[in-house]
Amino acid sequence: MPSSGRVFLLVASVIIHTLLVYSGETSLGAVCSTDNDRLDSASHKFLSDCDDTTFCSASVNGTCQPRLCRRDEFPFGFTNFTSLPPLCQNGTFCPDEGSGCKPLWTVGSACQMDRDDQCAPPPNWADLASNQNFNGSLCLKSTCTFANMSLGQPCILDGVTYIDLGPNGEQFSNTVTRHNCQTSQLYCDTSLQVCVPTKSLGASCGSDQECRSFNCGPGGVCVDPPETPRRVEAWQVALTSLSIITAMAVTVVMLTLVHKRLRLQRYREIREYYEEQISLRKSLSVLHAAAADRYLDEKRHFD
Ligand SMILES: *[C@@H]1O[C@H](CO)[C@@H](O)[C@H](O)[C@H]1NC(C)=O
Ligand SMILES: *[C@@H]1O[C@H](CO)[C@@H](O)[C@H](O)[C@H]1NC(C)=O
Ligand SMILES: *[C@@H]1O[C@H](CO)[C@@H](O)[C@H](O)[C@H]1NC(C)=O
Ligand SMILES: *[C@@H]1O[C@H](CO)[C@@H](O)[C@H](O)[C@H]1NC(C)=O
Ligand SMILES: *[C@@H]1O[C@H](CO)[C@@H](O)[C@H](O)[C@H]1NC(C)=O
Repeated sequence: MPSSGRVFLLVASVIIHTLLVYSGETSLGAVCSTDNDRLDSASHKFLSDCDDTTFCSASVNGTCQPRLCRRDEFPFGFTNFTSLPPLCQNGTFCPDEGSGCKPLWTVGSACQMDRDDQCAPPPNWADLASNQNFNGSLCLKSTCTFANMSLGQPCILDGVTYIDLGPNGEQFSNTVTRHNCQTSQLYCDTSLQVCVPTKSLGASCGSDQECRSFNCGPGGVCVDPPETPRRVEAWQVALTSLSIITAMAVTVVMLTLVHKRLRLQRYREIREYYEEQISLRKSLSVLHAAAADRYLDEKRHFD
Protein backbone atom coordinates (compact mmCIF):
# COMPACT_ATOMS: atom_id res chain seq x y z
CA MET A 1 0.00 0.00 0.00
CA PRO A 2 2.47 2.64 -1.10
CA SER A 3 -0.15 5.40 -1.50
CA SER A 4 -1.70 4.98 1.97
CA GLY A 5 1.82 4.91 3.43
CA ARG A 6 2.55 8.23 1.75
CA VAL A 7 -0.71 9.69 2.99
CA PHE A 8 0.17 8.58 6.53
CA LEU A 9 3.60 10.23 6.27
CA LEU A 10 2.01 13.41 4.98
CA VAL A 11 -0.52 13.48 7.85
CA ALA A 12 2.24 12.78 10.38
CA SER A 13 4.45 15.56 9.01
CA VAL A 14 1.53 18.02 9.02
CA ILE A 15 0.72 17.12 12.67
CA ILE A 16 4.35 17.43 13.80
CA HIS A 17 4.66 20.72 11.95
CA THR A 18 1.47 22.08 13.52
CA LEU A 19 2.59 20.97 16.99
CA LEU A 20 5.97 22.67 16.50
CA VAL A 21 4.36 25.92 15.38
CA TYR A 22 1.69 26.04 18.08
CA SER A 23 3.92 24.99 20.95
CA GLY A 24 5.82 28.22 20.29
CA GLU A 25 8.94 26.19 19.57
CA THR A 26 10.84 27.31 16.50
CA SER A 27 13.85 25.96 14.69
CA LEU A 28 15.62 29.32 15.21
CA GLY A 29 19.39 28.71 15.46
CA ALA A 30 19.13 25.04 14.54
CA VAL A 31 21.76 23.56 12.22
CA CYS A 32 20.48 23.22 8.64
CA SER A 33 21.49 23.06 5.00
CA THR A 34 19.91 24.81 2.01
CA ASP A 35 20.56 21.54 0.14
CA ASN A 36 17.37 20.28 1.83
CA ASP A 37 15.23 23.16 0.52
CA ARG A 38 12.56 21.51 -1.65
CA LEU A 39 8.92 21.53 -2.70
CA ASP A 40 6.47 18.95 -1.34
CA SER A 41 5.81 16.50 -4.19
CA ALA A 42 2.02 16.53 -3.69
CA SER A 43 1.11 20.03 -2.46
CA HIS A 44 4.18 21.80 -3.94
CA LYS A 45 4.55 23.72 -0.65
CA PHE A 46 8.07 24.95 0.09
CA LEU A 47 9.81 22.79 2.72
CA SER A 48 13.23 23.10 4.38
CA ASP A 49 15.09 22.09 7.55
CA CYS A 50 13.73 25.29 9.13
CA ASP A 51 10.12 26.16 10.05
CA ASP A 52 7.71 28.66 8.46
CA THR A 53 9.19 31.65 10.34
CA THR A 54 12.88 30.99 9.63
CA PHE A 55 15.13 30.25 6.65
CA CYS A 56 18.36 28.32 6.31
CA SER A 57 21.38 30.59 5.90
CA ALA A 58 23.81 28.36 3.98
CA SER A 59 24.49 25.03 2.32
CA VAL A 60 27.38 24.20 4.67
CA ASN A 61 27.35 25.00 8.43
CA GLY A 62 24.01 26.79 7.96
CA THR A 63 21.66 27.82 10.80
CA CYS A 64 18.00 28.76 10.81
CA GLN A 65 17.68 32.57 10.80
CA PRO A 66 14.49 34.68 11.24
CA ARG A 67 12.85 35.35 7.85
CA LEU A 68 13.76 38.72 6.32
CA CYS A 69 10.66 39.20 4.16
CA ARG A 70 7.16 37.89 3.61
CA ARG A 71 4.91 37.46 0.53
CA ASP A 72 1.48 37.52 2.17
CA GLU A 73 -0.27 40.07 4.32
CA PHE A 74 -0.86 37.33 6.92
CA PRO A 75 1.86 34.68 6.34
CA PHE A 76 1.36 31.09 7.46
CA GLY A 77 3.15 29.94 10.63
CA PHE A 78 3.59 33.32 12.33
CA THR A 79 1.84 33.76 15.68
CA ASN A 80 3.16 37.22 16.66
CA PHE A 81 1.60 39.57 14.11
CA THR A 82 3.35 42.63 15.58
CA SER A 83 6.77 41.39 14.50
CA LEU A 84 6.20 40.21 10.91
CA PRO A 85 9.05 40.56 8.40
CA PRO A 86 8.37 43.29 5.76
CA LEU A 87 6.69 42.90 2.36
CA CYS A 88 8.94 43.57 -0.66
CA GLN A 89 8.66 46.85 -2.59
CA ASN A 90 7.98 47.00 -6.35
CA GLY A 91 10.85 45.83 -8.50
CA THR A 92 11.77 43.21 -5.87
CA PHE A 93 10.30 39.91 -4.70
CA CYS A 94 10.44 37.71 -1.60
CA PRO A 95 11.61 34.16 -2.44
CA ASP A 96 9.75 31.12 -1.04
CA GLU A 97 12.30 30.70 1.76
CA GLY A 98 11.99 34.36 2.87
CA SER A 99 15.73 35.09 2.79
CA GLY A 100 15.20 38.76 1.88
CA CYS A 101 13.92 40.90 -1.03
CA LYS A 102 15.67 40.21 -4.35
CA PRO A 103 15.52 42.19 -7.63
CA LEU A 104 13.20 40.76 -10.34
CA TRP A 105 14.66 38.19 -12.75
CA THR A 106 15.00 39.03 -16.43
CA VAL A 107 13.25 36.91 -19.08
CA GLY A 108 14.86 33.47 -19.48
CA SER A 109 16.19 33.32 -15.89
CA ALA A 110 15.22 30.58 -13.47
CA CYS A 111 12.35 31.36 -11.09
CA GLN A 112 10.67 29.41 -8.30
CA MET A 113 7.69 27.27 -9.30
CA ASP A 114 4.64 29.33 -10.39
CA ARG A 115 6.13 32.55 -8.96
CA ASP A 116 5.19 34.89 -11.81
CA ASP A 117 5.90 37.81 -9.48
CA GLN A 118 9.64 36.98 -9.55
CA CYS A 119 9.89 37.90 -13.24
CA ALA A 120 10.46 41.42 -14.58
CA PRO A 121 7.66 42.79 -16.81
CA PRO A 122 8.13 43.07 -20.62
CA PRO A 123 8.49 46.58 -22.13
CA ASN A 124 4.91 46.38 -23.48
CA TRP A 125 3.56 45.06 -20.16
CA ALA A 126 0.48 47.24 -20.36
CA ASP A 127 -0.69 45.34 -23.51
CA LEU A 128 0.13 41.87 -22.19
CA ALA A 129 -0.97 42.18 -18.56
CA SER A 130 -4.08 40.18 -17.60
CA ASN A 131 -5.41 38.36 -14.56
CA GLN A 132 -3.61 35.22 -15.82
CA ASN A 133 -0.09 36.68 -15.51
CA PHE A 134 1.89 39.15 -13.43
CA ASN A 135 2.27 42.40 -15.37
CA GLY A 136 2.68 40.34 -18.59
CA SER A 137 5.31 37.97 -17.10
CA LEU A 138 5.00 34.29 -16.24
CA CYS A 139 7.11 31.66 -14.52
CA LEU A 140 6.50 28.63 -16.77
CA LYS A 141 8.45 25.41 -16.11
CA SER A 142 10.52 27.46 -13.60
CA THR A 143 11.74 29.90 -16.28
CA CYS A 144 10.75 33.56 -16.64
CA THR A 145 8.66 34.00 -19.80
CA PHE A 146 6.56 36.77 -21.36
CA ALA A 147 2.90 36.11 -22.15
CA ASN A 148 3.51 37.52 -25.65
CA MET A 149 2.80 34.69 -28.12
CA SER A 150 0.28 35.64 -30.79
CA LEU A 151 -2.14 33.62 -32.95
CA GLY A 152 -0.58 30.48 -34.51
CA GLN A 153 2.78 30.78 -32.72
CA PRO A 154 4.16 27.83 -30.73
CA CYS A 155 3.50 28.04 -27.00
CA ILE A 156 4.74 26.52 -23.74
CA LEU A 157 2.19 24.54 -21.70
CA ASP A 158 2.83 24.12 -17.96
CA GLY A 159 0.39 21.87 -16.10
CA VAL A 160 0.74 21.39 -12.32
CA THR A 161 -1.46 19.18 -10.14
CA TYR A 162 -1.75 20.27 -6.52
CA ILE A 163 -2.85 17.56 -4.07
CA ASP A 164 -3.74 18.24 -0.46
CA LEU A 165 -5.74 16.67 2.35
CA GLY A 166 -9.02 18.00 3.70
CA PRO A 167 -9.88 18.14 7.43
CA ASN A 168 -11.18 14.52 7.34
CA GLY A 169 -8.19 13.17 5.41
CA GLU A 170 -9.96 13.23 2.04
CA GLN A 171 -7.71 14.06 -0.91
CA PHE A 172 -8.30 17.15 -3.00
CA SER A 173 -6.51 17.71 -6.27
CA ASN A 174 -6.51 20.69 -8.59
CA THR A 175 -4.73 20.85 -11.93
CA VAL A 176 -3.73 24.29 -13.18
CA THR A 177 -2.56 24.62 -16.79
CA ARG A 178 -0.76 27.80 -17.79
CA HIS A 179 0.71 29.00 -21.09
CA ASN A 180 2.49 31.99 -22.65
CA CYS A 181 -0.16 32.97 -25.23
CA GLN A 182 -1.59 36.48 -25.03
CA THR A 183 -4.57 36.27 -22.68
CA SER A 184 -7.48 36.38 -22.68
CA GLN A 185 -7.81 36.39 -26.51
CA LEU A 186 -5.70 33.20 -27.01
CA TYR A 187 -4.98 29.88 -25.33
CA CYS A 188 -2.44 27.12 -25.95
CA ASP A 189 -4.03 24.15 -27.71
CA THR A 190 -2.92 20.97 -25.91
CA SER A 191 -2.47 18.82 -29.03
CA LEU A 192 -1.20 21.42 -31.52
CA GLN A 193 0.92 23.38 -28.97
CA VAL A 194 0.14 26.64 -30.78
CA CYS A 195 -1.87 29.67 -29.70
CA VAL A 196 -5.51 29.54 -30.86
CA PRO A 197 -8.41 31.92 -30.11
CA THR A 198 -10.32 31.40 -26.88
CA LYS A 199 -13.96 30.32 -27.05
CA SER A 200 -16.90 32.58 -26.34
CA LEU A 201 -19.72 31.91 -23.87
CA GLY A 202 -21.73 28.76 -24.64
CA ALA A 203 -18.98 27.00 -26.65
CA SER A 204 -17.90 23.52 -25.50
CA CYS A 205 -14.65 23.39 -23.50
CA GLY A 206 -12.34 20.99 -21.68
CA SER A 207 -10.55 23.41 -19.33
CA ASP A 208 -10.83 26.95 -18.00
CA GLN A 209 -8.03 28.32 -20.20
CA GLU A 210 -10.02 27.52 -23.39
CA CYS A 211 -12.71 30.05 -22.45
CA ARG A 212 -12.43 33.79 -22.86
CA SER A 213 -14.31 34.03 -19.54
CA PHE A 214 -11.68 31.68 -18.01
CA ASN A 215 -14.44 29.47 -16.61
CA CYS A 216 -15.37 26.09 -18.10
CA GLY A 217 -18.70 25.22 -16.46
CA PRO A 218 -19.74 21.80 -15.12
CA GLY A 219 -21.60 21.02 -18.39
CA GLY A 220 -18.39 21.43 -20.43
CA VAL A 221 -19.43 24.79 -21.86
CA CYS A 222 -17.87 28.22 -21.33
CA VAL A 223 -19.84 30.22 -18.77
CA ASP A 224 -19.34 33.49 -16.95
CA PRO A 225 -17.31 33.13 -13.73
CA PRO A 226 -19.52 33.01 -10.62
CA GLU A 227 -18.30 36.40 -9.41
CA THR A 228 -19.44 38.15 -12.63
CA PRO A 229 -21.90 40.94 -11.80
CA ARG A 230 -25.30 40.34 -13.43
CA ARG A 231 -25.68 42.35 -16.62
CA VAL A 232 -29.09 44.00 -16.99
CA GLU A 233 -30.01 44.60 -20.65
CA ALA A 234 -31.48 47.94 -21.76
CA TRP A 235 -34.75 46.27 -22.80
CA GLN A 236 -35.05 44.68 -19.34
CA VAL A 237 -34.66 48.10 -17.70
CA ALA A 238 -37.19 49.61 -20.15
CA LEU A 239 -39.69 46.76 -19.62
CA THR A 240 -39.37 46.96 -15.82
CA SER A 241 -39.80 50.77 -15.81
CA LEU A 242 -42.78 50.50 -18.16
CA SER A 243 -44.37 47.81 -15.96
CA ILE A 244 -43.92 49.94 -12.83
CA ILE A 245 -45.33 53.06 -14.53
CA THR A 246 -48.25 51.06 -15.99
CA ALA A 247 -49.02 49.52 -12.60
CA MET A 248 -48.98 52.96 -10.96
CA ALA A 249 -51.18 54.48 -13.67
CA VAL A 250 -53.66 51.58 -13.48
CA THR A 251 -53.80 51.94 -9.69
CA VAL A 252 -54.48 55.68 -9.91
CA VAL A 253 -57.17 55.23 -12.60
CA MET A 254 -58.84 52.43 -10.63
CA LEU A 255 -58.85 54.48 -7.43
CA THR A 256 -60.28 57.49 -9.29
CA LEU A 257 -63.00 55.34 -10.86
CA VAL A 258 -63.90 53.72 -7.53
CA HIS A 259 -63.96 57.13 -5.87
CA LYS A 260 -66.20 58.53 -8.63
CA ARG A 261 -68.55 55.58 -8.37
CA LEU A 262 -68.81 55.98 -4.60
CA ARG A 263 -69.49 59.72 -4.97
CA LEU A 264 -72.14 59.07 -7.60
CA GLN A 265 -73.76 56.48 -5.36
CA ARG A 266 -73.81 58.91 -2.44
CA TYR A 267 -75.14 61.69 -4.62
CA ARG A 268 -77.95 59.39 -5.80
CA GLU A 269 -78.78 58.46 -2.21
CA ILE A 270 -78.96 62.12 -1.20
CA ARG A 271 -81.11 62.97 -4.22
CA GLU A 272 -83.42 60.08 -3.48
CA TYR A 273 -83.70 61.30 0.11
CA TYR A 274 -84.62 64.82 -0.99
CA GLU A 275 -87.06 63.55 -3.60
CA GLU A 276 -88.67 61.38 -0.96
CA GLN A 277 -88.89 64.35 1.40
CA ILE A 278 -90.42 66.49 -1.32
CA SER A 279 -92.96 63.84 -2.27
CA LEU A 280 -93.75 63.40 1.42
CA ARG A 281 -94.27 67.13 1.79
CA LYS A 282 -96.39 67.13 -1.35
CA SER A 283 -98.59 64.28 -0.13
CA LEU A 284 -98.86 65.97 3.28
CA SER A 285 -99.99 69.23 1.75
CA VAL A 286 -102.42 67.32 -0.50
CA LEU A 287 -103.74 65.60 2.62
CA HIS A 288 -104.01 68.97 4.33
CA ALA A 289 -105.84 70.50 1.41
CA ALA A 290 -108.23 67.56 1.22
CA ALA A 291 -108.91 67.81 4.93
CA ALA A 292 -109.49 71.57 4.65
CA ASP A 293 -111.83 71.08 1.70
CA ARG A 294 -113.77 68.50 3.60
CA TYR A 295 -113.99 70.74 6.62
CA LEU A 296 -115.27 73.59 4.53
CA ASP A 297 -117.80 71.30 2.82
CA GLU A 298 -119.13 70.00 6.09
CA LYS A 299 -119.22 73.48 7.62
CA ARG A 300 -121.27 74.71 4.64
CA HIS A 301 -123.57 71.73 5.04
CA PHE A 302 -124.28 72.48 8.71
CA ASP A 303 -124.71 76.18 8.10
C1 LIG B 1 32.02 24.43 8.94
O1 LIG B 1 32.33 24.26 10.30
C2 LIG B 1 33.54 23.49 10.48
C3 LIG B 1 33.70 23.26 11.98
O2 LIG B 1 33.49 24.44 12.72
C4 LIG B 1 34.70 24.24 9.86
O3 LIG B 1 35.88 23.47 10.02
C5 LIG B 1 34.44 24.48 8.39
O4 LIG B 1 35.47 25.26 7.83
C6 LIG B 1 33.11 25.19 8.21
N1 LIG B 1 32.83 25.29 6.80
C7 LIG B 1 32.44 26.44 6.22
C8 LIG B 1 32.23 26.37 4.75
O5 LIG B 1 32.30 27.46 6.86
C1 LIG C 1 5.73 40.25 19.46
O1 LIG C 1 6.72 41.06 18.90
C2 LIG C 1 6.90 42.34 19.55
C3 LIG C 1 7.91 43.15 18.74
O2 LIG C 1 9.04 42.41 18.43
C4 LIG C 1 7.35 42.08 20.99
O3 LIG C 1 7.48 43.32 21.65
C5 LIG C 1 6.29 41.24 21.68
O4 LIG C 1 6.75 40.91 23.00
C6 LIG C 1 6.04 39.93 20.92
N1 LIG C 1 4.92 39.23 21.52
C7 LIG C 1 4.94 37.92 21.77
C8 LIG C 1 3.72 37.33 22.39
O5 LIG C 1 5.92 37.23 21.52
C1 LIG D 1 6.19 51.36 -6.23
O1 LIG D 1 5.24 51.74 -7.23
C2 LIG D 1 4.47 52.87 -6.92
C3 LIG D 1 3.45 53.05 -8.01
O2 LIG D 1 3.88 52.58 -9.25
C4 LIG D 1 5.41 54.07 -6.76
O3 LIG D 1 4.64 55.20 -6.41
C5 LIG D 1 6.44 53.77 -5.68
O4 LIG D 1 7.34 54.84 -5.60
C6 LIG D 1 7.17 52.49 -5.99
N1 LIG D 1 8.06 52.16 -4.88
C7 LIG D 1 9.31 51.77 -5.06
C8 LIG D 1 10.07 51.49 -3.82
O5 LIG D 1 9.81 51.65 -6.17
C1 LIG E 1 4.10 46.78 -14.11
O1 LIG E 1 5.38 47.15 -14.57
C2 LIG E 1 5.57 48.55 -14.74
C3 LIG E 1 6.93 48.78 -15.38
O2 LIG E 1 7.94 48.28 -14.62
C4 LIG E 1 5.41 49.24 -13.40
O3 LIG E 1 5.52 50.63 -13.56
C5 LIG E 1 4.02 48.93 -12.85
O4 LIG E 1 3.88 49.49 -11.56
C6 LIG E 1 3.83 47.42 -12.77
N1 LIG E 1 2.46 47.16 -12.38
C7 LIG E 1 2.19 46.25 -11.45
C8 LIG E 1 0.74 46.03 -11.16
O5 LIG E 1 3.07 45.62 -10.89
C1 LIG F 1 8.27 37.57 -26.77
O1 LIG F 1 9.30 38.00 -25.89
C2 LIG F 1 10.53 37.35 -26.14
C3 LIG F 1 11.50 37.84 -25.05
O2 LIG F 1 11.69 39.23 -25.13
C4 LIG F 1 11.07 37.70 -27.52
O3 LIG F 1 12.25 37.04 -27.77
C5 LIG F 1 10.00 37.24 -28.53
O4 LIG F 1 10.38 37.64 -29.83
C6 LIG F 1 8.65 37.85 -28.20
N1 LIG F 1 7.67 37.28 -29.09
C7 LIG F 1 6.73 38.01 -29.69
C8 LIG F 1 5.79 37.28 -30.56
O5 LIG F 1 6.62 39.21 -29.49
